[in-house]
Amino acid sequence: MIKKVTKNTILKMKEQGEQIAALTSYDYLSTRILDKAGIDLILVGDSLGMVVLGYENTLPVTVEEIIHHLKAVSRAKPRAMIVGDMPFMSYQASIEDAVRNAGRLVKEGGAESVKLEGGERYVPVVEAIIQASIPVVGHLGLTPQSLYHFGGYKVQGKDEESAERLLSDAKALEKAGCFAIVLEGIPWQLAKRITGSVSIPTIGIGAGPHCDGQILVITDMLGIYENPLPKFVKVYDELGERMKKAFERYIDDVKSGRFPDMSHSYSSGNEKKE
Ligand code: KIV
Repeated sequence: MIKKVTKNTILKMKEQGEQIAALTSYDYLSTRILDKAGIDLILVGDSLGMVVLGYENTLPVTVEEIIHHLKAVSRAKPRAMIVGDMPFMSYQASIEDAVRNAGRLVKEGGAESVKLEGGERYVPVVEAIIQASIPVVGHLGLTPQSLYHFGGYKVQGKDEESAERLLSDAKALEKAGCFAIVLEGIPWQLAKRITGSVSIPTIGIGAGPHCDGQILVITDMLGIYENPLPKFVKVYDELGERMKKAFERYIDDVKSGRFPDMSHSYSSGNEKKE
């Protein structure tokens, strides 16, 4: 029997030096395929706002939207651990909001843990969610919900002072009880230092090769995108281009009358009378 990935599995993977392979997913079918491929961790990320719903950034994403996509992903019953992303303003205003919303992701969406952006300042929030028996993944560095605070999508932790702050944020999240931390958009040297300084796994995205695992946005790595991709994305297929070509062939077939032919049509069995 295939064993479900849990928080303990993820922690053990760091101990045993096994890399954690993670991707985002937002729907049932992709999750089934990810499961067959053997992914360890699936994040229903607020990136869905941009790559599924067409928002300009992740800020408009609601708890309801995350739950809607979490439901589709959890119906696929993957072996991988399902992490639900806490969207902007679902945990910033109060601890009570945070616990209630994290609970909704688990209870209504089927998340097995939640992720939230932020460091030391969010320790009371992380602790309260864990108190409610919900495992938490931290998220540090170029955290997209702080887009306006950063003044754009800028690599974080490049100078000594901000690097030290990120290191102490990571230690604070570990102490608060997070079972993993996503490190996004930071220099690889800092990611290496953080990874070596905490006992919980780091999962990198734009954080170089020395993290305990890696995560990418599924549509980026499949080559389904419109805007230029960041440097850290490795594109494993050009599915967007291949989909466009398939749609063009279909349109051409329909317009020229090549589709449907008899092999794609039902018969009454009375062909001779037609
Ligand atoms: O929302 C998301 O997809 C994420 C990943 C980029 C880590 O937070």
